[in-house]
Amino acid sequence: AVKRSGADGVCAINTLKSMIGVDLETFIPYPNVGGYSTYGGYSGPAIKPVTLRCVAEIAKSVDIPIAAVGGISTWSDAVEFLLLGATNIQLCTAVMHHGFRIIEDLIDGLSVYLEEKGMDSVKELVGKALPYIADHSKLSRDYKVVSTVNRETCVKCDVCYIACMDGAHQAIDLDEMRIPVINEDKCKGCGMCETVCPVEECITLKPRES
Ligand SMILES: Cc1cc2nc3c(=O)[nH]c(=O)nc-3n(C[C@H](O)[C@H](O)[C@H](O)COP(=O)(O)O)c2cc1C
Ligand code: SF4
Ligand code: SF4
Repeated sequence: AVKRSGADGVCAINTLKSMIGVDLETFIPYPNVGGYSTYGGYSGPAIKPVTLRCVAEIAKSVDIPIAAVGGISTWSDAVEFLLLGATNIQLCTAVMHHGFRIIEDLIDGLSVYLEEKGMDSVKELVGKALPYIADHSKLSRDYKVVSTVNRETCVKCDVCYIACMDGAHQAIDLDEMRIPVINEDKCKGCGMCETVCPVEECITLKPRES
């Protein structure tokens, strides 16, 4: 619709309309402005996944410049947006937190990344990830993974056990040392245990043999 209306480009997504909470004593939602509140714009890192999806969908639909804004804080965030079709990047929350000097960090990080990739310009990154996005129905049902636990780095916190027991497929038992043991017959590879584990790379998902 934006292109049909004659726009030269599009900016996505600004902020998401939101409400940050309610005062349990007065019943007045935040922010309390003289006894009343209203909806506000939610921005920053939490909205990055929504912005990534919107930018990708726009880039797959039209061939006009896309300014990505919403949740971008680092040079690697910027690269992700460029790869999904953004042609320029905007930051607000990150600059408010860290000041304009964060732009130098972005330029440094991007420069090193481009050098490592043997590229001369960020333009070469634009849209490179788009061919790998398919409809949900096109994703292979034959690609299966199974959870594995590194017994050496596990701190026996039980968090994965609880997540799988109460939120997934009851595929984790605890051995006599309280270290999780994966029941591969029950594990569906949902990744819940990997997500909640506090130790980096202690739980990994490996492709199933067959
Ligand atoms: C405190 C604050 C004030 C903002 N004021 C405006 C505004 O007046 N007009 C506007 O279009 N966007 C405004 N924005 C939205 C930003 O321009 C930006 O689109 C949004 O915050 C998402 O980017 P970010 O995640 O990098 O912050 C504001 C954002 C913040 C955090
Ligand atoms: S991947 Fe899912 S089903 Fe498998 S052990 Fe982890 S939480 Fe349980
Ligand atoms: S969540 Fe990670 S550290 Fe905690 S018990 Fe499970 S594997 Fe071990």
